[in-house]
Amino acid sequence: MPESEEISRGLEDVNIKWTRLTTIDGEKGILRYGGYSIEDIINSGAKVEEIQYLFLYGELPNKEKLEKFRENVEKGYNVPGYIIETIRKLPKESDSVAMQMTAFASLAAAETKFKWNKETNRELAALSIGRMAGITVNVYRHFMGMEPAIPEHSDSFAKSFLKAAFGKEPSQESIDAMNAALILYTDHEVPASTTAGLVAVSTLSDIYSGVTAALAALKGPLHGGAAEAAIAQFAEIGDENNVENWFKNNILSGNRRLMGFGHRVYKTYDPRAKIFKSFAEKLVKNNKEAEKLFKIAKKLEELGIKQYGAKGIYPNTDFYSGIVYMAIGFPLKNNIYTGLFALSRITGWQAHFIEYVEEQHRLIRPRAVYKGPEPRQFLPINKR
Ligand code: SDX
Repeated sequence: MPESEEISRGLEDVNIKWTRLTTIDGEKGILRYGGYSIEDIINSGAKVEEIQYLFLYGELPNKEKLEKFRENVEKGYNVPGYIIETIRKLPKESDSVAMQMTAFASLAAAETKFKWNKETNRELAALSIGRMAGITVNVYRHFMGMEPAIPEHSDSFAKSFLKAAFGKEPSQESIDAMNAALILYTDHEVPASTTAGLVAVSTLSDIYSGVTAALAALKGPLHGGAAEAAIAQFAEIGDENNVENWFKNNILSGNRRLMGFGHRVYKTYDPRAKIFKSFAEKLVKNNKEAEKLFKIAKKLEELGIKQYGAKGIYPNTDFYSGIVYMAIGFPLKNNIYTGLFALSRITGWQAHFIEYVEEQHRLIRPRAVYKGPEPRQFLPINKR
């Protein structure tokens, strides 16, 4: 039996590793990547590939290092044919994250030579980021009944991804918004998905299985799945004149939770939600449906903060992200928003896996406090 009978439910406030990657101040609503504030990063106009590099190498790249890194990522764009075939065998309406899981589990099945190795870990992680772009393009195009496509080299990861997904030149405004969304979701310390992946790689299982485990956790509506559940509420409400009634009948009644609100760590407004909201303000003017849902969201935010603000429950990153994705051109019906979250978070997951396995590796094996029957004699079935 473990010494203490103390159980930290949901591992709340339990430290599972140290990190140099990301820090969060939940009381003040501060998020920093490698010491840089998320606001400074977004306002700098940095491309997400610079942040991908920062997570894998610990420093921002100069132009030459960025080019070399981008080549490694782009090698992953051309995902193996068997992966595209596997995705396209799944029902079109399958959950986007479940399809990404299928793809990464297939990589784990096929890439049997994978070994954790300080010399190759980062190159493989860069390749996986590119592969996740190629996989997510094909998950989306499968939903839409479009032919397979592969991202191609361009002057940015966001542009290559959007051009391959939509099959046409994306607007600069969409590229900038997608780039920001990719940065905002890159990492968030050790949420459930990162922790699930860490448990997997702590057994020295391969990086693809770690990503698969992380995707399995991300999928749930209490975590990444909220990116779809939040905007689905706005669509269900349908009109800003219905918001008060909906809120009273669904949330105040205690029947449902306000999705996109609340956070285990932030007890104030999630800084990422503020940035997503500012992008939504700019983008919705070009998309009537997104504009209508945005008006509903703002009204719902008001009611939510009035009701829950005093308890430290505020909009989190998932409250407005779906509006931005919709305004970029990803329709709500395709459940792709959490898949787009994963396209970004694969960087943070792999960076934490590498940091853990290379520098602080230990098998993750917690205990359980036994509450079962006292020792008793086992009777064979003919005596029971
Ligand atoms: C993400 O961890 C991360 O970093 C995740 C993430 C990342 O980048 O990786 O930030 C991304 O997953 C954001 C969270 C997305 N999930 C949602 O929007 C789902 C709705 N949110 C809640 O289910 C909830 O806020 C959680 C799951 C996010 C956090 O919940 P906790 O810390 O487990 O808190 P809890 O469920 O124990 O709730 C504490 C109290 C309860 O009230 P009491 O029983 O004490 O009276 O707060 C209430 C809850 O009822 N509460 C809510 C609420 N969230 C918490 N009440 C109404 N609506 C909500 N959304």
